[in-house]
Amino acid sequence: MAASRDQWNSQIGFLLAAVGSAVGLGNIWRFSYMAYEHGGGAFLIPYVVALLTCGIPLLVLEFALGHERTGSAPLAFAKVDRRAEFFGWWPVTFVMFGIVLYYCVIIAWCLNYCIYSFSLAWGSNPDAFFFKQFLKLPKGPMEIGGINLNILLSTGTIWFLNWLIVLRGVGKGIEMANKIFMPLLFFLTIFLVFWALTLDGSVDGVIAYLRPDFSKISKIGVWIDAYSQIFFSLSLGFGIMIAYASYLPRKANITSNAIMTSIMDSLFAIVAGLGVFAVLGFMAHAKGVPISKVVSESIGLAFVAYPQALSIMPGGNYFGVIFFLSLVVAGLSSSISILEAFTSAVIDKFNVNRTFVVSAVCILGFMGSAIFTTHSGLYWLDIVDHFITHYGLVVVGIAECIIGAWLFDVEKLRKHVNGISTIKMPKIWNVIIRFFVPAILLVILAGDLVSELKAPYGNYPWFSIAVIGLNWMGLTVIAAAIFTKLPWHYEYMLYTPEEDEE
Ligand code: ALA
Repeated sequence: MAASRDQWNSQIGFLLAAVGSAVGLGNIWRFSYMAYEHGGGAFLIPYVVALLTCGIPLLVLEFALGHERTGSAPLAFAKVDRRAEFFGWWPVTFVMFGIVLYYCVIIAWCLNYCIYSFSLAWGSNPDAFFFKQFLKLPKGPMEIGGINLNILLSTGTIWFLNWLIVLRGVGKGIEMANKIFMPLLFFLTIFLVFWALTLDGSVDGVIAYLRPDFSKISKIGVWIDAYSQIFFSLSLGFGIMIAYASYLPRKANITSNAIMTSIMDSLFAIVAGLGVFAVLGFMAHAKGVPISKVVSESIGLAFVAYPQALSIMPGGNYFGVIFFLSLVVAGLSSSISILEAFTSAVIDKFNVNRTFVVSAVCILGFMGSAIFTTHSGLYWLDIVDHFITHYGLVVVGIAECIIGAWLFDVEKLRKHVNGISTIKMPKIWNVIIRFFVPAILLVILAGDLVSELKAPYGNYPWFSIAVIGLNWMGLTVIAAAIFTKLPWHYEYMLYTPEEDEE
């Protein structure tokens, strides 16, 4: 007999774990610079539209599939239709052997920077420190160079922490960790935001962050980014939320949890952005330059612009320690969810012992992360991230709609969810899942493909794009196909007797 399925100890434990997965580096690392670049407050329009038309409906769908079919993504999908199993394996494979590998390296950078903050180790030139001294970044992605040992070491620490938590299982490991991580993260973030808002010039920063520029949102790219951000941020298309919902008891408030998760995730992103831009406003004020001169995008924001501000801020070293610590906490609560998505899939299919699976994937994961700790790691991370988040997540999103709505029965899922939830999903949800979400995702996919063909992503040489991005995607497809082909340890797990259903 298969071992009985793990369960959350409480509904709040589940909610905190789902929020922990959703709130991650993306909320601090991507959202605020994306909002700034894409029209400030006006970006909230595509963002909220994406949340309402895709984010929440898909999150409810993922929760519903995992709960109704009681399984990780591959098991839940295979229980719908054997042909769908691959679309459960692909996401858990590309998140495990793609996203989490570089995600852990970024958390590791934050850990390094948390320590550097004590002495403001970046000195007077954080830009040169980050790119030249810390990363030793070469000219192009193919000049791999050696491994940065300090980054490898901190990456090992992050993998060790992941191992320690996921090893202990759902209730004692993931739930317990999130019951500590989430309150801690919210407390640290609110503390930093209030601190940042007391700095001179902070208001100018906040205005720059939120000042609406509606001309920007007419661009298709802005909408594509909003949808991609929602996907990444709500951990949709990762297979995580399906696995997490499969650990709920039969009576569980699915829709309220989905809505709460989405609201907390978005609020956290917006509030964290206030803190980030208050600090940038302070720096612009101190240097007597416009905000546009101090803001850089993406990692430059966290690892260059921010340290510059910390150097001139009273108590900046303490601020830095807390800021990078909160990034580590936000990152860890997401990385453990990725590990769990893959772990639960392997346990479901092959009935192997959790200690063995978690230990094996953490060792493999650490080895896989090593490529991103090399001198050219940042380029690799950028390319792999682009392909997986832009194509993998979107394709899986479409597949989930087809599986939930067409191969299964979306009305049956709606009845299931409404039978146990306080907030009822209206009938329009069926239409959204059947037609609207797949159509929107197809448009996004097409838009992405067109811009891809116009110019190579990030102006990298085509060769690097093919070797790193496309190959990486291709390998995850092959690995997922192999997992799909292997036999189930307990074939009977695939059958859900209809009479058992509500
Ligand atoms: N949802 C996680 C994040 O936003 C992966 O970083």
